[in-house]
Amino acid sequence: MSSEVAGSQMSIGIGLMGLGKVGGRVAKVLQDRSEVIVQQAGCPSILKKVLVHDPAKKRDIDFHLITTRVEDIMGDPEIDIVVEVIGGEHPAWEYIKQAIFRGKHVVTANKEVMAKHGVELLALAREHEVDILYEASVGGGIPLITPLRQDLVANKISTIYAIINGTTNHILTMMSKEGLSFSPALRQAQQLGYAEANPSDDIEGRDAAYKLAILASLAFHTIVRPEDVYCEGIAFLDEHDFRYAKELGYAIKLLAIAKERNDSVEVRVHPVFIPAEFLLAKVDGVYNAVQVEGDLVGKMLFYGEGAGALPTSSAIVADIISLAQKINLKVKGSPWPLSSYCKTITPISEIETRYYIRMSIADHPGVLAQIAKALGDHLISIASVIQKESEVSTQTAEIVIMTYPAKEKAMQQALKEMEKIAVVKEIASFIRVEA
Ligand code: HSE
Repeated sequence: MSSEVAGSQMSIGIGLMGLGKVGGRVAKVLQDRSEVIVQQAGCPSILKKVLVHDPAKKRDIDFHLITTRVEDIMGDPEIDIVVEVIGGEHPAWEYIKQAIFRGKHVVTANKEVMAKHGVELLALAREHEVDILYEASVGGGIPLITPLRQDLVANKISTIYAIINGTTNHILTMMSKEGLSFSPALRQAQQLGYAEANPSDDIEGRDAAYKLAILASLAFHTIVRPEDVYCEGIAFLDEHDFRYAKELGYAIKLLAIAKERNDSVEVRVHPVFIPAEFLLAKVDGVYNAVQVEGDLVGKMLFYGEGAGALPTSSAIVADIISLAQKINLKVKGSPWPLSSYCKTITPISEIETRYYIRMSIADHPGVLAQIAKALGDHLISIASVIQKESEVSTQTAEIVIMTYPAKEKAMQQALKEMEKIAVVKEIASFIRVEA
């Protein structure tokens, strides 16, 4: 394992898996910041091998380090820490398991693997007296995992409100500020390199759901799986909704929300109306922000660049240094307790929030009364109504209703009944409101 350098000083061997934008930057930071790393870790961290898919590709790295054989990393006794920056579930998950079985510590930026398999991997690491650090898996360079695990651990955390997907936040910012509809805003994000060619994980909310599962598990000291997270994407949002949001004093954001009430955890990702004066409403473009509320610390906001090679390498190299310090001190395993299922997940039907509904109706006498009755029958109280002048040619009016807090189950039943009212032509939008 760690080798002796210059007499008594150890060196830590690093095996890097993946040499894309993030991997390339990590290799460069390890090289460029070697003095700081020695100073902070107490010994040098030396890049020993780099696993790549295509060895012929021209790269700015010593070609002797490049390999296509996983075994060159797993079987190298001088490699202490495996850094996984391949991304995606396979083969990254299998490689991380192999590294642990071979007694190597792991640093990963992989939200999908940590959200789906983190519990088992952390237990496996414990068994093999190694550790996995994953600060870069959520929010790029924004410190989130360490603060939740360590700095805020004395708190009872009640709520997390998070903008943790830069792609969707950029699209929503363009829809709000430039009045674009969804498709052109997505195309623009792709042209700028913010959205991937296949952006479905981002726009359908899955990327945020993985990250929320990781954050909620740490914040509430329980196990939250990605499938526990109720998830809606942003593709249905319409420019009309952004106009009404502004008129009503709100912003529309894709929020990842986690709350704990009475030992039950609510986890959901969906578009929401939030008051325009909230700090989160002002987080625009590809920036991420996570608001955490703890009983001792109150409300805190973590804000910064949630993706990109530089910020992600900041978190990864910090994790490497942290592991190098432990190796140097001969500390084995991890000080943090393993998670267990101790809290239930609140079904979406049981949540309580406010709602925004936009619908097209036939502009006839008594229509509003029928809609109000459908809501009232389910104990849903209307907070405000907007109705614009109707389209004379089609005799159709658009109305917008904001409700007071109501149970989701009651709201879904009321929506079904409203859809059956003959004069309701379309329920065009239904968006939850957090205030
Ligand atoms: N696709 C993510 C985002 C970045 O748009 O925020 C990687 O997690």
